[in-house]
Amino acid sequence: MNHAAVPELERVLFSEEQIESRIRELAAEIDRDYQGRPLKLIGVLKGSVFFLTALARHIETPLKIDFLGISSFSDKSGSPGVVRIAKDLDESIEGEDVLLVEDIVDTGFTLRYLLQNLAGRAPNSLSVCTFLDRRSRRIVQTPIKYRCFEIPDRFVVGFGLDYQQLYRNLGYVAVLKPERS
Ligand code: PRP
Repeated sequence: MNHAAVPELERVLFSEEQIESRIRELAAEIDRDYQGRPLKLIGVLKGSVFFLTALARHIETPLKIDFLGISSFSDKSGSPGVVRIAKDLDESIEGEDVLLVEDIVDTGFTLRYLLQNLAGRAPNSLSVCTFLDRRSRRIVQTPIKYRCFEIPDRFVVGFGLDYQQLYRNLGYVAVLKPERS
């Protein structure tokens, strides 16, 4: 979809071509690092689905895919960062080389929770790959091994990222006009 046809969008941040090219680079890096060791990609629903499938298509290392669904909310005191698993993995990750795939890391609360949770299931290794890193919003530091792009502190949509569940299907990443976000 042409972004000019979507009036709620301010500008394109990353085009389809830029995304494709960067994902290819990242896939090659992952292939080099894992050296043919089978990999388990774990996607966090829903946003990461688009990135995970695009990435997986360029990775040559044999891989399996599983998904986690989470919900996050504030606790009674209003503190953010309470995360719970709403849909668990279908299979065990014990002894496996796991790459957790996110669409975006903001505060880092979600990632911290997921890494603690998954580490408790005894994988052989556990690393993180995120499509976008909005580092300026970080509250808890979390180890990110692979990132496609770092982004400014703006509300972005597309390539899996939503605003009120819309725009996930855009092939590019765009900044939403401030009055919409
Ligand atoms: C996004 C993203 C992470 C989380 C990151 O999910 O997929 O799970 O937010 O935020 P944090 O670093 O501040 O914890 P979102 O709640 O937008 O769900 P979605 O993927 O279904 O859109």
